[in-house]
Amino acid sequence: MTKPVLIINGPNLNMLGTREPHIYGSTTLPQLKAQCEERGQKRGINIDFRQSNSEAEIIGWIHDAIETVSGIIINPAAFTHTSVAILDALNMIKQPIIELHISNPHKREPFRHHSYVTFAATALICGLGVNGYLVSVDAMADIVTEQS
Ligand code: DQA
Repeated sequence: MTKPVLIINGPNLNMLGTREPHIYGSTTLPQLKAQCEERGQKRGINIDFRQSNSEAEIIGWIHDAIETVSGIIINPAAFTHTSVAILDALNMIKQPIIELHISNPHKREPFRHHSYVTFAATALICGLGVNGYLVSVDAMADIVTEQS
């Protein structure tokens, strides 16, 4: 059995469904978790789906992932634009990393146009709404299957 794919969700994503639904849609985080797990199962990969509002907790998860995951899908949310510390942690990861955003940050306010995380990312998926999560799971399954 291959190692799981870790999906990390950053701050405020626990509020999906009610948070600015015109931008982020009406799907809740538990619904999205179930959809990702189902898609992962179909594609033969285990999904470990997490959310935290704490930068320190996310960094700890990335450290643990160094040895334990086959890939990371990360929506760092606002930490995308602020966190050199998350970038430094991701730079220790040898496995593929997909940076994911529900919206297209490049169409939004200028402060969202810069991403620290992109420097560590294998690929970037954004602007597809919450469907981007399933697209990311599919893409990661393709990469992981090809590598094994
Ligand atoms: C986001 C985009 C970020 O700019 C924002 O801070 C978020 C969500 C997205 O998924 O579109 O919290 O990462």
